[in-house]
Formats: sequence, structure tokens, C-alpha cells
Amino acid sequence: MAVVLAFESSCDECSVAVVENCGPGTPLLVRSVATYSQIDLHRPYGGVVPEIAARNHLDQIIPMLDQALVEAGVSVSQIDAVAVTVKPGLVGPLLVGLTSAKAWAYVHQKPLIPVHHLEGHLMSPFLSDARHSADLNTQSDFPAVVCLVSGGHTQIHAITKPLFEWAETDLETTCLGRSRDDAAGEAFDKTAKLLGFPYPGGKYLDQAAKGGNPKAVPFPRALMSSPDHPEFQFDMSFSGLKTAVATLLKTSTSVTPTDLCASIQEAILDVLIHKSLRAVKDIRARRFFVVGGVAANSRLRQRLQAEFPIPVTIPPLAYCTDNAAMIGAVGCVRWAQGRILSAQDYLTLKAGL
Ligand code: KG4
Ligand code: ZN
Repeated sequence: MAVVLAFESSCDECSVAVVENCGPGTPLLVRSVATYSQIDLHRPYGGVVPEIAARNHLDQIIPMLDQALVEAGVSVSQIDAVAVTVKPGLVGPLLVGLTSAKAWAYVHQKPLIPVHHLEGHLMSPFLSDARHSADLNTQSDFPAVVCLVSGGHTQIHAITKPLFEWAETDLETTCLGRSRDDAAGEAFDKTAKLLGFPYPGGKYLDQAAKGGNPKAVPFPRALMSSPDHPEFQFDMSFSGLKTAVATLLKTSTSVTPTDLCASIQEAILDVLIHKSLRAVKDIRARRFFVVGGVAANSRLRQRLQAEFPIPVTIPPLAYCTDNAAMIGAVGCVRWAQGRILSAQDYLTLKAGL
């Protein structure tokens, strides 16, 4: 049993949450999550501006903290520990969250739990709240494959056993493969930008592709078979796609915008689905999770339901995009493992290293 206060500020979402672990075999309960998205601030620049992000986190973190504590209805004495994202991310924004978490933990004499942002994403399927029950985390759900598809990362992981059965020495997850260059979300955003959509363009491209012919343009699907390098069989590459789209746009083409969007989207999804299916078969997974912002993609959701031989779980969108609840989920697991830091260790903790 533990109640964890969590901070997330690694990029352009400023988020604070209270998450409760009610014991082994029960879901992780989100008591509250308050998130401020900076997307509107960065849109005029076509991407995240680190300095603007850091300054806005400074403005938002206390309001988000106050909101999360009030909505959770917990007193300070009921909070057992503070979890905070320490890497990877933009250093300025990370420092705002880390310094706030340290200060709160120090003043209220609570231990601190440093969290890797991607591990947070990997825990997001196990979060429950008043409206959503994640009835997972029993042995029958494992081994599981998690495909993490965000704006900055694309990775395929294996999780072998329920969270609270992890020993301190266990590898939490095994990364089977990753994109060697652009992330899937980045591929959506960069090609969408070439087509004139606002930042971040993934959701506009998703909308614009509806009804289009996904086979209209045979865009490249890189690294689909890598028999000479079995160690890279789950790796992906998306950077060639934007070059192919840019080249096509320079030539006169009769392809309609809808068909073009559908073809770009299909090229990204074919790679994600092919590599994920290969991982599912390889580890004989019983469940497949998709996490990260690209999990919002409507065609991806449709294809996963149609093409996967095992149950597919996608967390609610609020837990797919960056949020502090997923950081609190890692905090709950760490607490159960006894992996917490006291003030003499956490006061010198650095961000981004
Ligand atoms: O996980 P996330 O919110 O932020 C990061 O941690 O990066 O993911 C944001 C990414 C962006 O690249 C965005 O374009 C993409 O998720 N995205 C989508 C859709 N909605 C968001 N990509 C494709 N289709 C969508 N519907
Ligand atoms: Zn993220």
C-alpha cells in the first residue's frame, strides 16, 4: 500500500498526479491527475521551444500541484513518497519538475523516487481510475509486448511478469527493438509539416487520410526483413519516409491529398505492426499494449483489432500522452521494491543524466 505524489515535466506537458497502490493483484488507482498542455504555445514555432517550455512549467507547476492534491482529497500525511521524471527530456523543463519535487519532499520529509520517462509510458496500461478499470497485471497477461510510440521515441518492449512480482534485481522490461532514427510520431509530424498541417501534425494526417487509398503511393518500409542481423530484427527506421514524401511533392503528382495522407500513414503503420507482430510471436506474448501519443491514431486502432492474434490494450488517451499518473505508477512499483531515496541522496540528484 502506498500513495505517491508524482511530477512530470520532461517536454511540453506540465503534470502532477496522486496515484495509489492498493496492494498486489489490484490495479494502480489514479486519485487525481492535473495536466497543462503547452501545445498552443509552441504551435506558432512548428515544434517545442525548450526555453518557452521551461518558463511555462515554472508558471504551471504550482497550480497543477494544488489541483492534483485537492482533487485527490489526500492530506500531506497520507502521501508516502514523491516520484519525479529525471530523464530523458529537455533539461530546463526537467529541472523545474525535479526541483519542485525535491522541495516538496524535503519540506514534508518524504522520500523521493527518480523515474525514467519511458518507463512511465510502459506502466500506463496498468492505471485505473473512477471511469476506467485496467483489469490487468495478473500472471495470465504475461509475457506481454508493449509498443511505445510517442513523438520522441519508438520502442518495442517485453514485460515478463506482473509489476509487483518484480524483485529489485529484475530487469524491469527488456527493450527488443527501437527506431534507429525518427520516432513514429516524428514521422507523422514531419511529413504532416511538408503537407502544410499545423504542429503536431499526426492527428491532422490521421483525419485527412480517412477514406483515402493506402496503396496509392508505395512509400518505403525500411528494415522489414533483416535476416543477416537477427539482433536488429525488431529495429525500425522512419527517416527515409520524409525524404520520399518531400521528393514526391517536388515532382508533379496526380495523387489526391487524401490518398497521399493514407499512403504515408500506412507506410508508418505497416512497419509498427509488422515489427510488433514479430515480437509477439517471438516471445509468445499473451497480451499486446500500445502506449504513447500515436496510440490515438484511428487507423492503427482499427488495424490492431483486426490483425492481432492476442488481446490488444490501449490505455485511455489521457494516459497515452505525457502525464504524471504514469510516473506515479513507476513510483508505486519502486516503493514496493523499497527503491526510494532519502534527502541525503536526492538533494544532489541531477536531471537529464
Ligand atoms: O506521447 P506524446 O503525447 O508526446 C511525447 O512524449 O512525444 O506523443 C505525441 C505524438 C506526436 O508526434 C503526435 O503527432 C502524435 O503523438 N499523435 C498522433 C495522433 N495523435 C497524436 N499520430 C498519429 N495519429 C494521431 N491521431
Ligand atoms: Zn512521453
